[in-house]
Amino acid sequence: MTLRKKMIEPFNAQIKSEFTASAQYIAIAAYFDDASLKELANFFYRQADEEHMHAMKFVHFMLETGAKPTIPDTSKLRNEFSSPADAVQFALDQENAVTDQINNLVDLSIAESDHAANNFLQWFVTEQVEEVDTMTTLLQTIKLAGDNLLLVEDYVRRNPPHAAAQPVE
Ligand code: FEO
Repeated sequence: MTLRKKMIEPFNAQIKSEFTASAQYIAIAAYFDDASLKELANFFYRQADEEHMHAMKFVHFMLETGAKPTIPDTSKLRNEFSSPADAVQFALDQENAVTDQINNLVDLSIAESDHAANNFLQWFVTEQVEEVDTMTTLLQTIKLAGDNLLLVEDYVRRNPPHAAAQPVE
């Protein structure tokens, strides 16, 4: 089984996106941690771990299918945010962008008749639905809470993001 040649660069680009997302979530977690919003901070530290796991799934899949991945620099990261809503909106925008990238990879796998890659990518299709939903709900909760961010802390404490259930393959 060999990863189709045309998929190698897009897969490398996805590794970059996933590592960028991981580092970006640490930056967002640090923003909340610095503001003593520990539950929000922990939420984003966990999200960072998940994104790292996503990147590693691509790394391992490429190697399993005979393609050597190129480990990239991350894209430029943002460390300053004007408000909690600004930080979470940025996270949601990032998730929507990743969803578009995953959909494009699925389209490419179909065009290339790369069924193994298509099967691998389906996990990410499902994952992105959940991540966009989680981030959308968090943003709405922050907007509803207004100035009382302790309500958001309570919400996050009661609704932790799903555990990174699947081990890295
Ligand atoms: Fe791995 Fe949430 O993108």
